[in-house]
Amino acid sequence: MEKEKKGVVCVTGGSGFIGSWLVRLLLERDYTVNATVKDLKDERETKHLQALEGADSRLHLFEIDLLNYDSVLAPIKGTVGVFHLASPCIVERVEDPERVLLDPAIKGTTNVLEAAKASGVGRVVVTSSISAIIPSPSWPADVVKGEDCWADIDYCKKNEIWYPLSKTLAEKAAWAFAKENNLDVVVVNPGTVMGPILPPAINASMAMLSLLLQGCTEAYENVYMGSVHVKDVALAHILVYENPSASGRHLCIESICHFSDFAAKVAELYPEYKIAR
Ligand SMILES: NC(=O)c1ccc[n+]([C@@H]2O[C@H](COP(=O)([O-])OP(=O)(O)OC[C@H]3O[C@@H](n4cnc5c(N)ncnc54)[C@H](OP(=O)(O)O)[C@@H]3O)[C@@H](O)[C@H]2O)c1
Repeated sequence: MEKEKKGVVCVTGGSGFIGSWLVRLLLERDYTVNATVKDLKDERETKHLQALEGADSRLHLFEIDLLNYDSVLAPIKGTVGVFHLASPCIVERVEDPERVLLDPAIKGTTNVLEAAKASGVGRVVVTSSISAIIPSPSWPADVVKGEDCWADIDYCKKNEIWYPLSKTLAEKAAWAFAKENNLDVVVVNPGTVMGPILPPAINASMAMLSLLLQGCTEAYENVYMGSVHVKDVALAHILVYENPSASGRHLCIESICHFSDFAAKVAELYPEYKIAR
């Protein structure tokens, strides 16, 4: 029996840790995928994607700069759905947060949505983060953090924690654009994403794990983390894309634990390493 033909979808940030898994699962489900990379000449961004099953006939790679609207429009034109993952994922201190993190995250998101609107795309799935929900220190301790809970913008600015600020402002910009332009947007908010890495380079969340394996000496006081498998995150994107009734924000986390319990679990799983405690 002939397989059901799926339309063409665009995955921005297709070369990344989560993006590569999403491209892989979409190809497995018979979609044709326009995936974006930052530099088409860099094999570290392209080779692992071109090696995926189905890539030879149903994967098209595009080079984009999130700040350049025309470059963003090209892979989106003619698609029925967009998954917007491309955003700088840098959690360590940066010198120029506006240029390095905030502009590409926020303007990049509005450029993608603008292009999706201009191209008549059916639905855009935006990858936000748990970092757009916490830190929210003034949220009452006895109230569940629901879809109306946002990371505290002033707190982020005051404490110079730019990555959560970039994700919060980018997600807020996405909702504002969707409302003003009547565009169908659904958001996934993953926790700390872990799992097998398809690209040759390590991303920020897996780098945190490797830091533990190297025995980091930094003190993390009363930090909780919610981790989730990268394949589940990729699948969650497809589920909210394909399910017409999906709407709003979707926290995507397997479980939440204290960082010291997480470190203890890693130590149990990898007894051959000297894990920081
Ligand atoms: N990993 C996590 O734990 C986690 C948790 C929650 C949310 N997220 C979100 O998930 C998304 C993907 O993250 P990831 O972990 O897969 O990170 P990643 O491996 O660093 O992927 C980021 C992707 O964005 C692209 N990109 C960054 N800046 C760009 C720019 N200026 N122009 C064009 N492309 C640009 C990168 O291209 P290059 O590969 O060419 O650099 C890469 O494909 C991000 O939106 C991130 O905020 C991640």
